[in-house]
Amino acid sequence: MRKHLLSADDLTADDVHTLFATAAEMHDVQRREVKKLPALRGRTVINLFFEDSTRTRSSFEIAGKWLSADTINITGKGSSASKGESLRDTVLTIGSMGVDALVMRHGASGSAQQVSQWVDAVVINAGDGTHEHPTQALLDAYTLMRRFGTGGRLGSLEGRHVVIVGDLTHSRVFRSNVVTLTRLGARVTVVAPPTLMPSGVDAWSREAGFATSYDLDEVLPSADAVMMLRVQRERMSGGFFPTSREYTVGYGLTRARLGVLGPDVPICHPGPMNRGLEIAADAADAAQSAVLEQVSAGVAVRMSVLYHLLAGEGVA
Ligand code: NCD
Repeated sequence: MRKHLLSADDLTADDVHTLFATAAEMHDVQRREVKKLPALRGRTVINLFFEDSTRTRSSFEIAGKWLSADTINITGKGSSASKGESLRDTVLTIGSMGVDALVMRHGASGSAQQVSQWVDAVVINAGDGTHEHPTQALLDAYTLMRRFGTGGRLGSLEGRHVVIVGDLTHSRVFRSNVVTLTRLGARVTVVAPPTLMPSGVDAWSREAGFATSYDLDEVLPSADAVMMLRVQRERMSGGFFPTSREYTVGYGLTRARLGVLGPDVPICHPGPMNRGLEIAADAADAAQSAVLEQVSAGVAVRMSVLYHLLAGEGVA
């Protein structure tokens, strides 16, 4: 493993399996009454979030706390960034306090990579613009492997058909997931309306070995898992589809489409969900929905990432 976690591409399949073995142990800790482990005592982890977040930020904070690290949250709105301080000055300031890790989310693609060159601390990318969100891809893969395993043991993604649907153009979750899932042997098909299919996807899909489609109904019957992505209105400047209704009819996981899925096919969504737009309440709340398992896996996986990158087990 490298020093930082900036992109899903930083991790080999072996790295991912190592992280998941630790995450499985951390998952057990989550069920204890007293959850603290001493592994990162004396270490300081800063969560630096310039974009809104519920799950990612709080799970990184909980993960750090359960490993006994001192965790501090800084958000764009409450920091000197709102007074016009540059990102470089902000991170140099924080870096000068002797912190061990910076978990950062920022609206600019490539910002985590850039920051890793400015500070000595370990940098973990918690979402950079539309580029990458590697820990989300890890927790998604981990969730699916738990579903495909038995008795709490992780199963395999080898040959499993994972269908990723939605606003691919604006999705860092999709970009990281394609890398992680294919690396673990899954067969991935990504589905979006033509206006939300990223430009250049054809060359990338050939190179990375995933399929693309505009037709959800054609792909869905062969899915072993479905991952619905949020329509990211805040990143859209124009009309990417005529009406919400039309989007749902073409690309939503509606009640009718839920009927096409086998009862054991996990339904994932990184959250936050637009209920009624990309996912119907029936699907989000179905017994086969893995949405809340993803959240719980997020803590375990982030504990594992912090542990491996900070505890110096020779894998960083
Ligand atoms: C995602 C994100 O912020 O990239 N959410 C998350 O981390 N749980 C996806 C999204 O915002 O739609």
